[in-house]
This record gives sequence, C-alpha cells and structure tokens, in this order.
Amino acid sequence: MNVAEKANVVVDGVGMDFAVKGGTFTALNDIALTLPRGSFTTLLGPSGCGKSTLLRIVADVIQPTRGTVDLFGMTASEARMNGLFGFVFQDPVLLPWRSALGNIELPLEAQHVPKAERRERAMAVLELVGLDGFEHLLPAKLSGGMARRVAIARALVVEPSILFLDEPFNGLDELRRRQMNVELQRIWSATGTTSLLVTHNVADAVFLSDTVIVMGRNPGHIIERREIDLPRPRSIDNSLSPDYIAHERALTALLSDDYKTRDD
Ligand SMILES: Nc1ncnc2c1ncn2[C@@H]1O[C@H](COP(=O)(O)OP(=O)(O)O)[C@@H](O)[C@H]1O
Ligand SMILES: [Mg+2]
Repeated sequence: MNVAEKANVVVDGVGMDFAVKGGTFTALNDIALTLPRGSFTTLLGPSGCGKSTLLRIVADVIQPTRGTVDLFGMTASEARMNGLFGFVFQDPVLLPWRSALGNIELPLEAQHVPKAERRERAMAVLELVGLDGFEHLLPAKLSGGMARRVAIARALVVEPSILFLDEPFNGLDELRRRQMNVELQRIWSATGTTSLLVTHNVADAVFLSDTVIVMGRNPGHIIERREIDLPRPRSIDNSLSPDYIAHERALTALLSDDYKTRDD
C-alpha cells in the first residue's frame, strides 16, 4: 500500500486491560483519535492516565485488548516492519562508547545500509538538529540538550513516516526545554513527519501542537480534543502572549476538572 494513498493514522475503540494480581486493570477505555498526515498531535494528561500505554499501542510495542489502529492503511505491526517508526524516549540512552555520529548511524546499521550512505545520511540529520561540528563527541561530553538532539536525529535518520516522542525533554531546565521545543518545531516543519508527543506539560503541548488530546484517569480516557490555531513558526517570545496563555488556561481547566472528580 502506498503511504500517500491513505493519509491518516486512525485509532478506533481502543482499550487496554493489564493482568494484575487479583484480576485485570483497565488502563485505557474507548480511545478514538485521528492524526492527519504531517500533523503534530500531543497526548496531554496527568501521570498514570495511560499516555505512554496509548503511544506504545500505536507504535506496536504492545497489542490493545480492544479496538484497531490503522497507520496509513497498514496495521501497526505492518507499519513497524516497514520501518515507518521513529522513537524518542524520555531518556536518550546513547551508546557511551560511540560518538554522536556513531549513535545516529545505529538504526541504519540495523537496516544494513552501506557504510558510505550511512555516514552521509547521519551527517545530514546531524546538521538538521544543529549538531554539526559536534559529530565526534562521545555522549559523556554532550550536554543534556545535545544528547536530546542526538536522540531526535537517531529517530529521524530512518526517515520515519511517524515520529513518537514520549516526554522527550524531561529533566531539562525550563529555558532549555523551551529552546528544544523551538528546535523540534523547526525539525518537524523541515521534515513534515507526522508526530505524536506524550507530555504532562501544558506549555509544551500548546507550543508544539496542531492538536492536543487531553486525557484523564481511572480508566484512561479522552476528555477533549483542542485545536491549537496559533500561527507558525511559534517563538519563545510569542509563547508568553495572551493567545498562548488562553490555550494553556483552557487546557489546565480541563485537567483540573478531571482531578476534582477523582478522590486521589
Ligand atoms: N504492563 C503493565 N501492567 C500493569 N499495569 C500497567 C502496565 N503498564 C502500565 N500500567 C498501568 O497503566 C496506567 C497507565 O500507565 P502509563 O501509560 O505509563 O501512564 P502515563 O504515561 O500517562 O503516565 C498506570 O496506572 C500504570 O501503572
Ligand atoms: Mg508515560
């Protein structure tokens, strides 16, 4: 199936029950969402609402108990086996004995891409994430922000059709996080990769997203879908303006309502 023919990623009726001591625990119920091709979508919600579980289902890391996932006309496992996925996780987990460039080349080695082409493609994404000049540094010599850039480059080097980002900027200080958001926006604009971000950070969600899916807990469910119609490119300066704050306020209110209705 040609990826261009069927544009969207469609999740329908998805639920997830985990086997736990004494029975089952429903982590997700009745999840439906559509990610238009090339869009940036964020799953926003409190810790434990099932964001990572949902991302892992779409990425074929785990299979849902109920429901279907369609990625550009393929099943999740077909899409994964066709190399359509790029992953960036909370912890960059770079191989410490390999340079920045060597780490970015890794997924291409797994695909048996010839050495010269590997080098060329890794250098191209290294430049894309703004690390040219640092390609020979070992991970121990990289700052937190640089390590995240390497992780993003490593995910993009396979030219994925969909990029999964699970709390990619956790642990960075506030300013660095904002700067990485600007970088991620630029990279996303340059590549046009359909992106699915998981975060509990309201400001990050507003800054980066076309659409924010607000999730609540017990069991994990979708509370609301909010379009972020702010013009792009978005800047740190603009992100302090009333338009941004209005979105943040609305999202925060939705999250607070969910907290109020729970007794934890
Ligand atoms: N393999 C598992 N077995 C049992 N429970 C799980 C498993 N994975 C996740 N959970 C539970 O599902 C809920 C959602 O987890 P998770 O998706 O990691 O939430 P989030 O990413 O929003 O913080 C949590 O209560 C978590 O403890
Ligand atoms: Mg999580």
